[in-house]
Amino acid sequence: VKKSNVVSSILGKHWQQAPQNAVGKAFAPTNIALCKYWGKRNQELNLPLTSSLSISLGNKGAFVELTRQDGEHDIVILNGQPVASDASFYKKLVNFLDLFRPQNAMRLRADIQSNIPIAAGLASSACGFASIAMALNDLFGWQLNTTELSILARLGSGSASRSIEPGFVEWQAGSREDGMDSYAVSLSETWPELCVGLLIVSEREKILSSREAMQRTVESSALYPAWPAKVSHDLVELKQAIANHDFALLGKAAESNATTMHATMLSAWPAIQYAVPETLLAMQTVWKLRSEGLALYFTQDAGPNIKLLFEKHNVATIQSHFPQVEILQPFKKGKHI
Ligand code: PMV
Repeated sequence: VKKSNVVSSILGKHWQQAPQNAVGKAFAPTNIALCKYWGKRNQELNLPLTSSLSISLGNKGAFVELTRQDGEHDIVILNGQPVASDASFYKKLVNFLDLFRPQNAMRLRADIQSNIPIAAGLASSACGFASIAMALNDLFGWQLNTTELSILARLGSGSASRSIEPGFVEWQAGSREDGMDSYAVSLSETWPELCVGLLIVSEREKILSSREAMQRTVESSALYPAWPAKVSHDLVELKQAIANHDFALLGKAAESNATTMHATMLSAWPAIQYAVPETLLAMQTVWKLRSEGLALYFTQDAGPNIKLLFEKHNVATIQSHFPQVEILQPFKKGKHI
């Protein structure tokens, strides 16, 4: 099954027809997985080996405006700066747009405003592809539902399937070969006290894309066979924690899920380690503070940065130990960007 088969079956007669509107606009939040997606069963369609569960970060994400563009090339502007056509982000985006444009190869201009650090392991591709899928829906007038948008966003990047919805989101792995049952579903619970602290320890580019790192882990880590069982266990704990607002259980499940994912990477060959010395120092500080009674946990994705998990009543203490932390409240209502 090819990406274009999935797109044509979702869009039906609207596939490759001209846009109905002059402009398409959308905002999508970025998301942080509490139970990670690590490993694909299908590389072409970004179908995961396991389900995953994330939290969307409120008004932190990407706002996209898509317009038709005369000329031969797509134009991509990121935070006011044109993106070079040989950049990997440009190529990924153009390949994604190619799935939708009419036969006569209409060109597009994508203006993306992001308020999160790009390529610092903060899931920029997640909100990027989710907002592009939603903006295409607006431009073409397809009127797709969130399930269909989640499937389309997944074709750009797996974790983007979860950025279609706010709050807690579960991406159900599904089992179909065409992936029509692999999409995100939002959980109804909210948790206004919950805070996520972004700790940027390094802004350098990723050492290895998550796509390559996942594949290498699945193929070479002796620990990977234990991962699906760990995910099933953590998903149960996380849902229980969310239902009961049990912060200690949420933190433990999320942190242990992240450290286990990184252990599978460290046991891959060649080994993969996204942590830099500052990452390890931050983790040790978290462990020390926790041993002293502070309800503080962390998670880490395919990059060196750390995301702290805590509740609102501890904000001042967290700020005193991590002066550079950027604190977000995913459930706080607010204007986008
Ligand atoms: O969607 P991708 O290909 O960028 O992969 C995301 C992988 C992790 O961020 C490490 C985990 C996750 O579930 O978001």
